[in-house]
Order: sequence, then structure tokens, then C-alpha cells
Amino acid sequence: MFKIGDVEIENRVVLAPMAGVCNAAFRLTVKEFGAGLVCAEMISDKALLFKNEKTMNMLYIDSRENPMSLQIFGGEKETLVEAAKYVDQNTTADIIDINMGCPVSKIIKCEAGARWLLDPNKIYEMVSAVVEAVDKPVTVKMRTGWDEDHIYAVENAKMIEKAGASALSLHGRTRKQMYEGHADWDIIKQVKEAVNIPVIGNGDVTTPELAKKMLDETGVDAVMIGREALGNPWMIYRTVHYLETGELMPEPDVEEKIKIAILHLDRLIQLKGEKVAVMEMRKHASWYLKGIRGNGKARKAINQTNTRDEMVAVLEQFVQDVKDKQAS
Ligand SMILES: Cc1cc2nc3c(=O)[nH]c(=O)nc-3n(C[C@H](O)[C@H](O)[C@H](O)COP(=O)(O)O)c2cc1C
Repeated sequence: MFKIGDVEIENRVVLAPMAGVCNAAFRLTVKEFGAGLVCAEMISDKALLFKNEKTMNMLYIDSRENPMSLQIFGGEKETLVEAAKYVDQNTTADIIDINMGCPVSKIIKCEAGARWLLDPNKIYEMVSAVVEAVDKPVTVKMRTGWDEDHIYAVENAKMIEKAGASALSLHGRTRKQMYEGHADWDIIKQVKEAVNIPVIGNGDVTTPELAKKMLDETGVDAVMIGREALGNPWMIYRTVHYLETGELMPEPDVEEKIKIAILHLDRLIQLKGEKVAVMEMRKHASWYLKGIRGNGKARKAINQTNTRDEMVAVLEQFVQDVKDKQAS
């Protein structure tokens, strides 16, 4: 257990924020698989202030998700603070997270995301303005630096702490690396040693054993898991269980996987309506099938589906095919 401000987090496993993925349907599913904290996909401060309909829908939180964290991004103090105030006063999020790691050019051009990594003073100014304006605890998610020649992770982390943030999470890659190469856990360790607020380590935690290794080697308060949880909420459950007991749970069988994929689909339909949900679920369904032998035909067929019934039929047929193969 650890605390972010006055928010108690039951265990040391956190779902990473992922744009286009971490909506209420996926977050709730991952929460039910035991995550101590789930993080929402990033939300643009300006889109929120313009009351963009799609953005406002992204603020929906299911009460079973808490504690959860909502992430905002922006490049200007005024709009970032106003967006933070909106989240503070109008949502049931427990934590307000500021994105300081997004590497995408579109975001960098708006002086947002990873752009701040080059300017510790801006970090202080922006984070302290948000902290002063809201009641909920504020956290920051960042990368190690801009590129290998501009790694200010420790300096930036100290500024985040000085500005009054209640925790920070650190993805061990630079902006330039995007998602390539390895996450640098040494820098994560240095940051953990440099500040007193909780630090959540992130990057390349792909097995429960690696989660333990990161905790042991870096001393971080929690691990954050992103890509490995895609179509695989069992990664969260197996990690929580391994950290608590040292026992490695088996991977789920195909029937179990498809059962959860359909639950996920139904939750997405509730959230976004059938048409949008099925389109969005195509990528998730494909992730749920990842690693299962003979999935090629089903993955192709999933991309042709337009309704719940069509998608469920493909998924259920796939389970049957796998079972038939096992029986023969
Ligand atoms: C599809 C996708 C979307 C992402 N969106 C966000 C986001 O909205 N906010 C953010 O801070 N990080 C975002 N990230 C980065 C992840 O939170 C995480 O830092 C990164 O994937 C490294 O962790 P991993 O090795 O466990 O995947 C995203 C990553 C992926 C793959």
C-alpha cells in the first residue's frame, strides 16, 4: 500500500494512461483484475475548456474504478490551470495527472507533453500553478529527458516535488526514443533517490517477475504497466498476485480470454454506442487473441465486423476452432 496525497493505493501495480485505450470500459476491467490505481487517457486542456463533446465524454468515470487518475495536457498555464480546476470540481477523479511525456509532434508543437522536459523552470511554474488551483492531489508523468544529451530527470523531478506535486511517474525513455530501445531503470533509481514523494516506475515491465525486479532494483513505490496490459488484463492480476505471494499464476486459456474480451466489448458499447464501440474494439479484440496459435484468420475477420453480433460470432467461432484442434 502507498499513498498519493491522501489517496490510499492498495497495491503497487498501476495501469498506465494510454490514449485511445484507457477509457472507463477498459479501466474498470483492469481495476477488476486488481490494479491499485488506473489512469485515464490524456485529455487536452483546450478541448475540455471548449467543451468538445468527445472530450467531455472522456471525463466519464465509473464509481467502481476509484481510486483513479485523470490526465490532462497543455502548453499554456492559463488553460492548463482552468482545465485542472474543471476536473477538480466536476469529476470524481481522485488524482489530477499532468502529461509531461507525450512525444508526438502534434503535442510538442503546442508546447505540451515532453516539450517541458527541456525546461525545469517551466515545470515548476506550471505544476505549482495547478497545485495551488485545485484540491485533489496533482501528479506528473514524464520521460527521462528530451534525448540522450538532454536528460534532466533528476532536476525535473526535484522541481515537480518543490512545486507541490504528490507523486510522479517516470517512463525510462527519452522523447527521442519514442517507444524504441530499452527503458533506463538506472535513471528511475536516481530519481527515486532524489525525491521524497512517491515515484512510480514505468517502461518495459512485461512480466510479473520484471515488475518485482524493477521494484527491487530501483526502489520505486509502484510499477506502471502499459502495453503489456493491452488485451491482457491478466498481466495486472498475475503481477499483483506474484508481488503478494511469489507465486506465478498460469496464463488464461482461450475461453477465459474471449469471455473478458466480450465483457470489454459490452462495456464499450454502453459507453460509446455499438457502432463506435465495435470499431474501437477491433484493435482490442486482436490484442486479446495475440499469442494464440492460428489466430490469423480470426484477426482478419474481426476487422470486417461492424456489429456486436458479428464480432461475438467471430470470437466464439475462434474458441470453438481452438477447442476442436486441441481435441483432434
Ligand atoms: C497506445 C499508447 C497510448 C499512450 N498514451 C499515453 C497517454 O495518453 N498519456 C501518457 O502519459 N502516456 C501515454 N502512453 C505511454 C504509456 O503510458 C507508457 O509510458 C509507455 O507505454 C511505456 O510503458 P510500457 O513499456 O509498460 O508500455 C501511451 C502508450 C501507448 C502504447
